Amino acid sequence: MDLLHLARRRKTVRRFSGKKIDMDDLLHCIEVAREAPSGMNMQPWRFLILGDGERKRKVREICERAERDFHERAWEELRRWMAERKITWKKDFLEDAPFLLLVFSWRRAPYFIQSTWLMIGYLLLALEEKELATVTYTPPNPREIEKFLEVDDDYKLEVILPVGYSADEKRREGRRDVKEMIYMERWGAGMR
Ligand SMILES: Cc1cc2nc3c(=O)[nH]c(=O)nc-3n(C[C@H](O)[C@H](O)[C@H](O)COP(=O)(O)O)c2cc1C
Repeated sequence: MDLLHLARRRKTVRRFSGKKIDMDDLLHCIEVAREAPSGMNMQPWRFLILGDGERKRKVREICERAERDFHERAWEELRRWMAERKITWKKDFLEDAPFLLLVFSWRRAPYFIQSTWLMIGYLLLALEEKELATVTYTPPNPREIEKFLEVDDDYKLEVILPVGYSADEKRREGRRDVKEMIYMERWGAGMR
């Protein structure tokens, strides 16, 4: 499948079926992702894979505690956006997905955030190619999760990717017209 089709097929999934996934598929996706470019080729990322039910439950508990607060304090537009998608403080996907793939960046590397997120982009497409579903979940309290998982101080939790098979009926989110995004020669000048 060409890249455009793959990119158009991918969508965020927040509900997972209980079906197990093949660990080799997940490792394959990480193989793809590690080919991403990075500042000084430092490859400043680390992955932590959680499959143990009890550890996933604890991560969920830590996240949900902060999510309640986050949802209470969310601004109006975000509240509406989340309500339309039935996104609440409850994060069932942290337990329902067979694996949680946690991605960390190494704070001492140049451009560690940019590099790690670029790699995450590769990862999302690699998962899609294997027909595996995920949500780029960015918890409001990454420090608490780092603490629970006893992560080295030099590493920053960027994202939790629950990985599994989709049980989500949600439709694809739209995209702006490409012409709206591109200016030619001068800022604000549209393409003919
Ligand atoms: C940096 C980043 C952070 C995100 N954080 C969350 C999140 O915490 N929770 C969530 O449900 N979705 C999260 N998302 C998913 C976006 O809501 C989703 O990608 C967007 O609405 C477009 O939908 P699509 O991925 O289905 O095309 C995040 C996406 C990105 C790129």
